[in-house]
This record gives sequence, structure tokens and C-alpha cells, in this order.
Amino acid sequence: MTGRATVVAVDGPSASGKSTISRMVALRLGFVYVDSGSMYRAVTWKALESDLDVNDTVQVIAMLHRIKIHFDVRNHEAQMLIDGFWPGDAIRAPRVAEKVSIVAAIPEVRQVLVAHQRSLTRFGDLVREGRDIGSVVFPNTPHKFYIEANAAERAKRRQKDFAAMQIEASTEGVAQALAQRDKLDSSRAVAPLQIALGATVVDNSINPPERTVEIILEQIARQQGL
Ligand code: DC
Repeated sequence: MTGRATVVAVDGPSASGKSTISRMVALRLGFVYVDSGSMYRAVTWKALESDLDVNDTVQVIAMLHRIKIHFDVRNHEAQMLIDGFWPGDAIRAPRVAEKVSIVAAIPEVRQVLVAHQRSLTRFGDLVREGRDIGSVVFPNTPHKFYIEANAAERAKRRQKDFAAMQIEASTEGVAQALAQRDKLDSSRAVAPLQIALGATVVDNSINPPERTVEIILEQIARQQGL
């Protein structure tokens, strides 16, 4: 329990399959699903829409203080609206993916988004995915998972996501971009990607998602003494 809400933390690198897994776990438990990566992506999207250079930290922080951030829950998923607008799939575009690690490394951006993330327990019990949920955002939850998958599998998954959005990308290009993002996400000074203390590590390379979901649900049941 975290306050009065139960929080399941699902961390891991890009394209490890954690979105699919987290959504399925949330559905099975009847919890609200929260994708924290989409929040960093939405802020990055807004900066690019505003023609900002994301390396200009002062400008990005100024923008962050100008915009109004608001949350809604639709179909059991939390959505972050910026100035009343939900950018939808635009946050998945390669131009956003290329820059999001730079924006996510700005301490003030993390401070603001972590405060919003913590406030979402007002919507009830949550399954939340990200990089720092178990280590920073909700370190006191007993339900911490770290999903990993091998590099080839992750590149294949990300390429499939792009294909679904009619975006062409080579396997090598996708693998390189993922490796670059892992490096930035794991080496940043504030809240780097890491396996949180007490997290259960689940390898999602080979198992079908249903099996990974079962492993997580069994562990939660054990932790709750069910
Ligand atoms: O999970 P994703 O690929 O949508 O995440 C996008 C970026 O956001 C990723 O490069 C790292 C960052 N991120 C983060 O820093 N902290 C989180 N809790 C979630 C994502």
C-alpha cells in the first residue's frame, strides 16, 4: 500500500514490453494504468511544437511553468493533457523519441512530473510503468518489477510499433536508437534507469506476455499474503 492506494511499479528499458505487460496486469487487477514515459514524451512533444531547442534547459523549464497539466482517466488509463489537449500518438513519433531522453534528464522536469505522478493515487489503485517508479516515485511499494528483454527482441518490438504507425525504420537504426536512449537513461545524474531495491526482475524476451503477467500476479498475491 502507498497511502491508501496500492501501487504496482513496473520499470525497465524502452521496448522491453513493459507497456503491454502493465496494461494487462492493470486489466486483470482492475487498477488504473499509468504510463509515465508518455508524460516525458508529451513535454518533449510540446517543446518541439513550440520550436524550442530541447538542449536549452532554461527555455524548456520556462515552458513547463507556462503550460497547464491536467489528468483524465479514459478506459482505465491515465492521460496527461497539456493546455487541455491530449497529443495521442504524436508523442510516439521518432522526432520525439530522439529528444525525450534529453528532456527527461532535466531535474526540474522530473521534479514537476514526479509530483504529478504521485498525485495520481487520487484515481485509486495503480499499475505504473517507467524507469524510476520503484526507485524514486513510489519506493515504499512492495510490488516492484523490472522487465528486461534482449536487445534484438526489443528492436524487433519497437520496429513493429513504428510499422503500426506507418513509420518506416531499419532494424539497425532502431537498435542503435534504443542503445543510445538506454545509455542516456541509465547514465543521467537524476533518477537513472536502475533495478529498484527489492524489485523482482522478469525476463520478457522469450515468454509470451501472458506468462510474464502470471509471474507478476503470482508475486503480488504472495506479497499480499493471498
Ligand atoms: O517508456 P518510454 O520509451 O515511453 O519512455 C520515454 C522516455 O522517458 C525514456 O527515454 C526515458 C524517460 N522516462 C523517464 O525518464 N522516467 C520514467 N519514469 C519514464 C520514462
